[in-house]
Amino acid sequence: ATRVTVTRLREMKRKGQKIVMLTAYDYPTARLLDEAGVDVLLVGDSLGMVVLGYESTLPVTLADVLHHTRPVARAAERALVVADLPFMTFQISPEEALRSAGRLMQEGGAHAVKLEGGREVAPTVARLVQAGVPVMGHLGFTPQSVHALGGYRVQGRTEDAARRLLDDAAALVEAGVFAIVLEMVPRQVARLVTERVPVPTIGIGAGPECDGQVLVLHDLLGLYTRQSPRFARRYADLASVIRTAVGEYADDVRGGAFPGPEHSFDMDDAVLERLY
Ligand code: KIV
Ligand code: NA
Repeated sequence: ATRVTVTRLREMKRKGQKIVMLTAYDYPTARLLDEAGVDVLLVGDSLGMVVLGYESTLPVTLADVLHHTRPVARAAERALVVADLPFMTFQISPEEALRSAGRLMQEGGAHAVKLEGGREVAPTVARLVQAGVPVMGHLGFTPQSVHALGGYRVQGRTEDAARRLLDDAAALVEAGVFAIVLEMVPRQVARLVTERVPVPTIGIGAGPECDGQVLVLHDLLGLYTRQSPRFARRYADLASVIRTAVGEYADDVRGGAFPGPEHSFDMDDAVLERLY
């Protein structure tokens, strides 16, 4: 399988072929998603919530994302692997952002990085792109700013807010992003952005008119039971599958039904006799 590249993504936008993106955080799942033909695997800082049990993405460190990027990069034969720049690993200065992004690519094996924000991060994006780091933008509801934004809220609903979002998208494009994630914005605003930028838009809670879609894997699989955002569709109920399987295992162990003879190893009778 030939690798999905940033130029391929732009070509897909031009041809009207939808881009399929999902989060991935470990080797076995990343293998399955890659084999299923997912175009882009995102090692999102959402791993803080769905894998590490934090209440937000804020505690996630560069080391955390690095740790999860390695197995995903090892697993992905076709998909483009994008790693999130966590909170405070890119905001201090463009130089620090470059150092962080460099580690995700060099030590983690990511092909690109994603960072949250609009025009205020444009100089940082430009610096990364200049150094050969492909950057994906992220606008609308940006989870690292959850406290600044006053909670999980749809962004860009007023005329002013929608104009700001369009200007932010233009600033990111000018700075050199190869794609933009749009999270929790009205579908009409997402459509406007999609029409006006030359790079693909990848929506999450941003309606069907984006060039692609992304979901947090655990939402899609029904594996994260703490909360489920309205914009996610649950394609499986893995929580139930796991509960049932583990319950049966526990019953079998307690009732002596597991392990069976086929799971056990025997030794030679003659050898055994000498032990008695
Ligand atoms: O961290 C993440 O999973 C993300 C996606 C929701 C876009 O940033
Ligand atoms: Na993220």
